[in-house]
Amino acid sequence: MSKRTLKVAVLGLGTVGFGVPAILQEQKDKIEQTTEMKIVIAKALVRDVEVKKALAQKYHFQLVPDIKDIVQDPEIDVVVELIGGIEQARVFIKEALNACKHVVSANKDLIATYGEELTTLAKKQNVNFYYEAAVAGGIPILRTLSSSLSADGIYEVLGIVNGTTNHMLTQMMQKGATYDEALTSAQKLGFAEANPTNDVDGIDAAYKMVILSDFAYGMKISLDDIKIQGIRMLQSQDVKIADSLDYVFKLIGYSRKFDEGIDVAVAPALVHKNHQLANVNNEMNAVFVKSAEIGESMYYGPGAGSLPTAASVVADLIAIAQNVQHEVLGIPFNTYKKAKKLATDSQIRNQYYFHFEVLDGKKQFEQLKSLFAKAQIKIKQMIDYDPQVVVLTYAASAKRKKQFLKSIESTPGFELISVYNIFD
Ligand SMILES: NC(=O)c1ccc[n+]([C@@H]2O[C@H](COP(=O)([O-])OP(=O)(O)OC[C@H]3O[C@@H](n4cnc5c(N)ncnc54)[C@H](OP(=O)(O)O)[C@@H]3O)[C@@H](O)[C@H]2O)c1
Repeated sequence: MSKRTLKVAVLGLGTVGFGVPAILQEQKDKIEQTTEMKIVIAKALVRDVEVKKALAQKYHFQLVPDIKDIVQDPEIDVVVELIGGIEQARVFIKEALNACKHVVSANKDLIATYGEELTTLAKKQNVNFYYEAAVAGGIPILRTLSSSLSADGIYEVLGIVNGTTNHMLTQMMQKGATYDEALTSAQKLGFAEANPTNDVDGIDAAYKMVILSDFAYGMKISLDDIKIQGIRMLQSQDVKIADSLDYVFKLIGYSRKFDEGIDVAVAPALVHKNHQLANVNNEMNAVFVKSAEIGESMYYGPGAGSLPTAASVVADLIAIAQNVQHEVLGIPFNTYKKAKKLATDSQIRNQYYFHFEVLDGKKQFEQLKSLFAKAQIKIKQMIDYDPQVVVLTYAASAKRKKQFLKSIESTPGFELISVYNIFD
C-alpha cells in the first residue's frame, strides 16, 4: 500500500522558508520511516513569483500569489507561516485554522501576542498549532518543556535567547569593544538588522520569555507583565569591572517562581564565569532550567539560521503527521494551564551589583554601609575604585532594593551609576 501524503503550503520563502524544502528532501527517508507518511510541499505563497521560480522548480511545488489559493484548496493539510510580523500573519493563520488546516509557525512576536487566541481557535477546529521554532530557533526547548519535563516542577528558566545581543556582548567582553563597535560588527556579519531596536532593547527576548513562561508554568502572561531592559545603556566600565570580578555580562531573560507567583524580566545581568550560561558566546543561545526532580539542565544551540530554524519547523510537521496517523488532533502544543499569578516585590529575590560615584570621598563609605544595613541588604563585597565604589550583595528582596535606592536618592554625596542582578 502506498504511503499517505501530508500536503504542506509554506507562506513566505525567506531565510527559514528556504530551509524547509531542503530539509524535507535531505531527511526524506528518516521522515517517512518516523511518520509512515510522505510530507511534501505542494504550494508556497510569495509576493513575487518570478524571484522564487528556481526554488519552486527545484523542489517541485507551485508558487501562488493569493492566500485563497491555499486555504481554499482541500488538498492542503498544513499551512506553515514564515512571513513574520504580527497583523498579516495573524490574518493568514486564522484563515488557515478556519479552513481546518493544521498550522506551524516560527513567529514569536505573533505567538507572544495572540498565541491564546490562535490556540483556542485551533482547538475548536480540531487541528494542531505548533511553533517549536519560535523560541531559540534550532533548540528544541518548547517540546522539551511540555513533554520531557512534564513530570517535573520547574521553578527557574534563564535564557540567552537573543543571538544578536549575545554576539555584541561577547565582543564587548572578549575584545573590549564599545557598544557601538559591537553593534557595527554584528550588523556587518548579518546578526543584527539595520534597525536593531527589537534585539538591543530586549523586546525579542521578552517575546520568547512570554512563551517560555507559558510552557514552564502554564501561565499566560503578556509583554506588559515583563520588566524589559536592553543593552543600550550598558557601559564598557561595568563590563570591565564585571570581568575583573569573574563575571560576564549577558542579556538574560529570566522567568522564576517565588512561592506560587512568577517574576519574568529581561535585563543585562552579571553571570559568574563558573555558571553554565557564561560560556554561551557569540550568536549561540541557551536555556537553563532548574526543576524539582532533575535539578539543573541546559539546552544549548543555534537560536537562528535557515537550517537550524527550519529543522524545528520540520519537526513540527513530523509531529502533525504522527498525530494525523494516530488520529489525535486538536490537542494544544502546551496543555498545562494555571491561572496567572505574578510574584510581589517582597517575594522576588536577587543578588545585586551596585555601582556608585561617591562624591565626597572615602568618609562616606561608612554611610553607604549603614544605608545598606538599614535596608537589610547584606554586603558580600565592596570594591573601591576611588572615586567610585562597587557593591555586590547577597540575595535580598526587590522591595528592599527599591527601599535602598530611594534612600540613596535622598542622601547627598552619592550618585548611582548602575544596578544589575547577579547570577552565581
Ligand atoms: N531567521 C531566523 O533565523 C529565524 C529564527 C527563528 C524564528 N524566525 C521567525 O521565522 C519567521 C520568518 O523569518 P525569516 O528570517 O525567514 O524572514 P525573512 O527572511 O524576512 O522572510 C520572510 C519572507 O516572507 C515573505 N513575505 C512577507 N510578507 C508576505 C506576504 N504577505 N505574502 C507572501 N510572502 C510574504 C517575504 O517576501 P519578500 O521577499 O517579498 O519581502 C520574505 O521572503 C519570522 O517570524 C521570524 O521571527 C526566524
